[in-house]
Amino acid sequence: MSDLFSGYDLAGLHMNNRIVMAPMTRSRAVNTVANEQTALYYQQRASAGLIITEGSQISHQGVGYLFTPGMHSAEQIEGWKKVTGAVHEKGGKIFSQLWHVGRISHVTLQENGAAPVGASNKTAENATAFAYDENGNPARIQASQPRALSTEEVEGVVQDFAKAAANALEAGFDGVEIHGANGYLIEQFINAGINTREDRYGGNTAEGRLAFVLEVVDAVVAKIGRQRVGIRLSPFNRIFDMPAFEGEAQTWLELARLLSSRNLAYVHISNRKAIINNPHGKDFLEKFRKAYAGTLILAGEYTKEEGQRDLQEGLTDLVAFGRPFISNPDLVERLKNDWPLTSFDPATFYGGGQEGYTDYPEYQEVVDQVTN
Ligand SMILES: Cc1cc2nc3c(=O)[nH]c(=O)nc-3n(C[C@H](O)[C@H](O)[C@H](O)COP(=O)(O)O)c2cc1C
Repeated sequence: MSDLFSGYDLAGLHMNNRIVMAPMTRSRAVNTVANEQTALYYQQRASAGLIITEGSQISHQGVGYLFTPGMHSAEQIEGWKKVTGAVHEKGGKIFSQLWHVGRISHVTLQENGAAPVGASNKTAENATAFAYDENGNPARIQASQPRALSTEEVEGVVQDFAKAAANALEAGFDGVEIHGANGYLIEQFINAGINTREDRYGGNTAEGRLAFVLEVVDAVVAKIGRQRVGIRLSPFNRIFDMPAFEGEAQTWLELARLLSSRNLAYVHISNRKAIINNPHGKDFLEKFRKAYAGTLILAGEYTKEEGQRDLQEGLTDLVAFGRPFISNPDLVERLKNDWPLTSFDPATFYGGGQEGYTDYPEYQEVVDQVTN
C-alpha cells in the first residue's frame, strides 16, 4: 500500500519517501545568486524525498520580487552548484523551479524601468510585487501596468525557459519544475479573463490559450529530456487577480490530457485545499487524476493524516508540504515518529538573514536542549 514513508520511482529517479518539499520563495539571495546559506538551508531539508526549490527567474524580465535568485547567468549557475552539491551529499534529490512572473512585477525591477510584460496589457489589480518605492526602499508595491508580449517575444520567452532548464542541469539539479501556477506568466496565458490576445497564443480558444504552456513544456523537454521535467499548476486559482472564466474546468482537464501524452516526471497541483473548498470540489481533483496518467503531486495545508489518506485513496502519488518544512528541517522524521512540529513564523518567511531560515533545530536537538 502507498505510504508517505515508502520509496518512489520518479521517472527513474529514486525518492527515499513520498514527501516533497514544496517550492518556497525566501528572498534571501544576494544579487540574485544562491550562496552558502542557501546551500545550508536546503541541505538541512535533504531528507525530503524530493526538494523543489524556490522560484528562480529564467530571465531578468521574469523577476517580480527583490532578493530572489535567477537561473540565467554563469554566476547564478555557480551559486546553485553549492546547493545541489550540499543536497546530493546528504542523499537528497532536488529540482529547480523555473519562474517568469509576467505582469506581477514593477518598473523598478525591469531593465531601464521598462513595463513588465504579460499575456495582455491588463494590470493585476490589488496585486503587489516586491520592488523599490519612491524613496528607493524595498517594499510591497502595486504591480505596474504590463505590456502585452508580441508573438515573436513569446517565442523568445519559450526559449528562455529552455535555456534556464539547461542551466539548471549544468548546476547539478536532478530536474526542473516549470512554474505554471499562482497567477504568474504561464497562468496569465491560460486564463481567458487575462488572455485577450488575437494571435495563435490566444484567439479566444482553449487551444490558443494552452499553446504557450505546451510550447514551454515541449522546448524544455527537447532540451533536457521528459523524465527531468515537472510542471506546477493551480486550477481555479484566484490570487493575483485571476478571474473565473467560462469553460475553466474543461480547460484544465484538457491540459491534463495533453500533458499526459508528454510523459513528464510529474504534474504538481499547488492549491488542492482551495480546489476542495470551491464549487468544483474534490470531484474536480478526481477528474484531473483520471485525465492525467502520470505521477501527480498535491500540495496545500497537508497534515500527515490527510497525506496518508490521499495516497491510500489513490488521489495522489506524492504529497508536498510547504510551510511545515520551513520550521521543521527534519519534517520527514517528525512525521514518521509523530513527534511534535515546530510552528512557523510568517514574519521571517521573506528576506532577512539566518533567523527563521537556517536556525530551526531538528527535534532531537530540541530534546537534548531540554534534557541537558
Ligand atoms: C513563504 C512562501 C513562499 C512560497 N513561494 C512559492 C514559490 O516560489 N513557488 C510556488 O510555486 N509556490 C510558492 N509557495 C506556495 C507553496 O509552495 C505551497 O503551495 C503553499 O505554501 C501551500 O502548502 P502548505 O500549506 O503546506 O504551506 C510559497 C509559499 C510560502 C508560504
